Amino acid sequence: MNIKIGGGKIEQKNDIESIEDIKWNEMWNHALKEMPSKNDKKRWDKIASKFNEWMKTDDYPQNFADKVHKKPDYTVLDLGCGNGSITLKVAKQVKHVTAVDMSNEMLKLVEENAENEGISNIKYIQSTVEDLDPELVGQHDVVIASRSLGGIYNLKDELKKIDGLAKNYVYMTIWGANGRRFERELCNTMGTEYHQHPDYIYVCNMLYQMGIYANIEMLDCESRPVYSDLEDAMDRCTWKLGWNGKEIKPEDKTKLEKFLKENAVQREDGTIDYPTNNPDWVMIWWKKEDCDYR
Ligand SMILES: C[S@@+](CC[C@H](N)C(=O)[O-])C[C@H]1O[C@@H](n2cnc3c(N)ncnc32)[C@H](O)[C@@H]1O
Repeated sequence: MNIKIGGGKIEQKNDIESIEDIKWNEMWNHALKEMPSKNDKKRWDKIASKFNEWMKTDDYPQNFADKVHKKPDYTVLDLGCGNGSITLKVAKQVKHVTAVDMSNEMLKLVEENAENEGISNIKYIQSTVEDLDPELVGQHDVVIASRSLGGIYNLKDELKKIDGLAKNYVYMTIWGANGRRFERELCNTMGTEYHQHPDYIYVCNMLYQMGIYANIEMLDCESRPVYSDLEDAMDRCTWKLGWNGKEIKPEDKTKLEKFLKENAVQREDGTIDYPTNNPDWVMIWWKKEDCDYR
């Protein structure tokens, strides 16, 4: 049997009898390969300072941090910590946090932000999740990976590693299936093909195949990306769609500008946002003692 994902085919067994027979990891890899934007260090380094600004008005980090089980004697491992907007909130309520990110520009921001808030219980490690040595980093009570696993190939192996790094709880967020309307509209406008990012359903199924029956929750975040002006919106949208760093033809730039101008909603403070640009993050979390590992 062939199942078509993102323009290609994955060979599946003809006689699929159970969930275990479905190649979720291979389908994830395949869908990821189709994405126009690549998940590399350079891309995140480049956007770090802007990301730091965006997070100041975003309710997502608080929403995520509120869900995490925290105790004063807990240690937490934050994989793909970004500028630390979740790291710092969690660090205030636990004994110690190990913050890992592949982008050193992001890590510099976590350090800076921690210093500004007088937080000193964070250890910083520059590494990809894939290269992280479990022996070196050791087990933590809680492992979090917020919005940071979406670009990883062979995710099933990394999920196993992540689970092994946790003593008590794991929390991660992955794209929902519903939230890319704005990007679809952008692609339509530009006449480029829209590629759906592989979403949470692949991850839940990979975990299930490993005997981890995770809890799933659509995070209820309100704040849409807010742009200081049209130029800011142009910047962020080109980055989002993976056109960043590429030469944009003048006619494409005009099309994009026209779309962004026509659809912008002006806010009282002069900033702009877009009604269809809604966040859609799914939190997947589990308690280690509930797992039935295979
Ligand atoms: C969207 S930001 C999320 C930051 C933070 N966790 C949050 O939710 O606010 C993604 C971050 O994950 C990091 N990242 C992405 N893939 C990674 C990987 N494979 N290994 C380590 N870090 C990664 C990026 O450098 C970036 O800082």
